[in-house]
Amino acid sequence: MLVLLAGIFVVHIATCIMLFVSTIANVWVVSDSAQSSVGLWKNCTNTSCDEGLSYSGEDALKAVQAFMILSIIFSVISLVVFVFQLFTMEKGNRFFLSGATMLVCWLCILVGVSIYTHHYASGSGTGYSSSHHGYSFILTWICFCFSFVIGILYLVLRKK
Ligand SMILES: *[C@@H]1O[C@H](CO)[C@@H](O)[C@H](O)[C@H]1NC(C)=O
Repeated sequence: MLVLLAGIFVVHIATCIMLFVSTIANVWVVSDSAQSSVGLWKNCTNTSCDEGLSYSGEDALKAVQAFMILSIIFSVISLVVFVFQLFTMEKGNRFFLSGATMLVCWLCILVGVSIYTHHYASGSGTGYSSSHHGYSFILTWICFCFSFVIGILYLVLRKK
């Protein structure tokens, strides 16, 4: 049981880090031809990133930015609550609060990455003729799976 808790703890930290990296790295959609990529904040070409990020068509970017930041905040809160409960909660109780917070984080990722997938992930609106998914985009979907599993495990596990 202790091993399981330690494992979840490590995966939780990894999820927080991956969420952070994927949100700040501007590699959500990568161009196949030119060496350039776009993300949530900047439009990067070769080595320099300029601020001129404007997806043509619908502008749902603000919502994606907001939900990704919320998801980082909730995953960190959940981690803090988990550590807190680990030391203060009575034995036999479930990590209900950290689980619930992690599921809120999962919902934020769900909404944010769904909006991005729907509007931009295919490369439409990025200005690229052909493109593929960048690692940020893939990391975010991995975080989506991890945060759900972590949240459910927190709800199920009892403190020994
Ligand atoms: C990024 O910059 C390139 C070159 O300036 C432009 O063609 C493209 O439309 C821009 N894409 C976005 C999403 O801002």
